[in-house]
Amino acid sequence: MKHRQICNPKIGIVNPDGHAIGVDIGATSVRAAILSHGTTDGRPSVSVHGCGHVDLPPGAVLNGVVCDQHAVTAALRQMWSQNHFECRNVILGITNQQTVVRDLAMPALPHDQLVKALPYQAREVVPLPLDQALIDWLPLGEADPSGMVPGLLIATPRQPVLAAVQAIESAGLQVARVDLSSFAALRAIADENHGVEAVIDIGAHMTNIIIHRHGVPKVVRAVARGGQELTERIVDRVGLDPERAEAAKRLQGLQATNRNFTDALSEGLRPLLAEVRGSIHYFGTTEDSAPVERLSLTGGGSALPGLADLFGEHLGMPANVVAPMQHVRNRLASKELQNEDAELSATAVSVGLAMGAAA
Ligand SMILES: Nc1ncnc2c1ncn2[C@@H]1O[C@H](COP(=O)(O)OP(=O)(O)OP(=O)(O)O)[C@@H](O)[C@H]1O
Ligand SMILES: [Mg+2]
Repeated sequence: MKHRQICNPKIGIVNPDGHAIGVDIGATSVRAAILSHGTTDGRPSVSVHGCGHVDLPPGAVLNGVVCDQHAVTAALRQMWSQNHFECRNVILGITNQQTVVRDLAMPALPHDQLVKALPYQAREVVPLPLDQALIDWLPLGEADPSGMVPGLLIATPRQPVLAAVQAIESAGLQVARVDLSSFAALRAIADENHGVEAVIDIGAHMTNIIIHRHGVPKVVRAVARGGQELTERIVDRVGLDPERAEAAKRLQGLQATNRNFTDALSEGLRPLLAEVRGSIHYFGTTEDSAPVERLSLTGGGSALPGLADLFGEHLGMPANVVAPMQHVRNRLASKELQNEDAELSATAVSVGLAMGAAA
């Protein structure tokens, strides 16, 4: 799967020690995964060398956007020092509701000409002022007989990317590449051998919905829905304080016996289910449409007891929670830097960003 994104050619994506590090800045915490790429039995494989996470104060990151750069910088510094990370060139994940990913075929041009031609092509399809957007294009195959190369146009608001990059640089790190968090989740979670699958990363504020066909993204959406609003609904409806509501949500979820409690959760999940259904429906109207065979869920929000079953029932297909490290071999390659807890803190986004270093 090749989901390349905007690179800084002056900075190595792979660090001098051969490791790639993905940084996922979410609403609840910053997370990093350090991987190396190699071969096992003649096939490409990935090993993990380190993972870490540090919680963020509420409000530091809202809907995927860094709002308090100092808090994010402090959390990154802490994560680096407490895990003794040595890599300093990182791959940053970006989530933004306004990100646009669209099919766009481009002529087979040399890179510099492609860069010049892209804004003209993008103007037609990107609903953002182009001077306020970062634009990239991802080839998805070889040129057809008419010389056009199939690919994806990616556009995202520039300012939130700059805010995240500044927070990282203030921590003494360098951003070697910026990638979409949804592409990273897809890389970590998707089973390329599977025909058509929906990968859904449910966070605290944001949910990434990606429908892929044999690993090629066909629908990519980020919606402002997540686990935080479920906790808020429990607070409002059941009258628990936020801490207890959060704990009860994690422990009992949709399997609780209190009807008020489960109703609060089901109602809170309805808009998210509608978003997923809408994405599947939209895919059904495209040229490449084919039945979606299954849902693969990830992100903290997917751990809600009973959520996978609810999604499976409502959308009429198998739904499972998938571990972020499912495609990573040689886990805990470096035992002295690692422990099981750290590995559990890795997110599909942090793992998938580092996996993308080979792309
Ligand atoms: N066991 C659980 N049951 C239900 N919800 C859970 C559980 N564990 C975590 N969560 C929820 O997952 C959310 C955090 O998920 P995650 O860490 O993926 O988000 P994030 O990446 O920090 O945020 P975002 O991607 O929205 O910026 C929180 O809303 C939390 O309540
Ligand atoms: Mg997240």
